[in-house]
Amino acid sequence: MLAALAAAWALLAAAFLAALLLLRRAPAPQPAGFGLVISGLFQDLIRYGKTKRGCGQLPGWLRLLQVPKRWFTHFYVVSVLWNGFLLICLFRAEFLGESFPSWIQDMHHALGRDSQNKDMDSEHFSALLVLLLLWLHSCRRLAECLWISVFSSGVIHIVQYCFGLGYYIAVGSTVLCQVPTNVRNGKKLSVQICWYHVIGVTMYIWASLHQHRCLAILANLRKSRTGKVVSVSHSVPFGDWFESVSCPHYFAELLIYVSMAITLGIHNVTWWCVVMYVLSNQALAAVLCHEFYQKNFSSYPKHRKAFIPLVF
Ligand SMILES: NC(=O)c1ccc[n+]([C@@H]2O[C@H](COP(=O)([O-])OP(=O)(O)OC[C@H]3O[C@@H](n4cnc5c(N)ncnc54)[C@H](OP(=O)(O)O)[C@@H]3O)[C@@H](O)[C@H]2O)c1
Repeated sequence: MLAALAAAWALLAAAFLAALLLLRRAPAPQPAGFGLVISGLFQDLIRYGKTKRGCGQLPGWLRLLQVPKRWFTHFYVVSVLWNGFLLICLFRAEFLGESFPSWIQDMHHALGRDSQNKDMDSEHFSALLVLLLLWLHSCRRLAECLWISVFSSGVIHIVQYCFGLGYYIAVGSTVLCQVPTNVRNGKKLSVQICWYHVIGVTMYIWASLHQHRCLAILANLRKSRTGKVVSVSHSVPFGDWFESVSCPHYFAELLIYVSMAITLGIHNVTWWCVVMYVLSNQALAAVLCHEFYQKNFSSYPKHRKAFIPLVF
């Protein structure tokens, strides 16, 4: 059933890629009537925060479906709780030989790997390590949302909000489904550190440091030297990877998921589908953000790419 999970992530990646291609195609004739509603809904579902501004005043009924962008914080609260719970369950199963709760075993049976074929201790350790990295990532992002980032009155669509909540539950569950959890029969894990664990974790730390620095640069644009919030407007960020791309924190997010693919041993197809999803999702957000800067700041540095340095 792992194939179904991989297919679901691949489908999500394809949906965001299709949205990106639709956005980048030659401008279509100005829609009218029903076409206008569909086009408005499409724009409303792919944009959030600052990129929603400047795409016209939303119709009243669409405005009712918006929630504050600062609710991004809820995604990380859910992720810290859910993925922390999965981490404890996996840790107890691997090191203490305990069974998973039956409802997790059912979920795992429906979506995960249940064969013992080529079942090696290094794979169990990889999954445990990636779940730990995911949980640490969520803890850091939660701390940044609570104590570093300065949010404006920007909004996100309620559908995007619900999707975000579901995403962090799905992504941790995907990690858990990479190992057969109900068939260790009390056998305890012996830790085997491999070369790909070392490379993956090093890359994760490097990308996380840059993501943190870039988010701090954005926050400092709105603070005085003493740390007091003095504005909630948008201005042009400089420093760190902002010198090369408009959205280095999105690029760092991609690198963090690639580092997890490496930590899982590089060959994990399901996780590469998750990486494809993050690539297309963050590329779409970065293109919209890049357009926002180019449209609103006439002196915006011309050499900056949207998302991936020197490439895109
Ligand atoms: N894995 C995924 O699927 C996924 C999906 C989405 C996001 N993320 C990650 O979540 C993190 C945050 O994403 P995001 O889309 O919220 O980033 P964002 O729109 O750049 O916002 C980050 C923070 O910076 C502020 N900000 C943005 N541009 C600014 C500017 N020009 N001047 C001053 N302040 C500015 C925002 O405030 P306001 O927007 O309130 O004005 C917000 O507080 C990123 O690292 C991203 O990679 C991951």
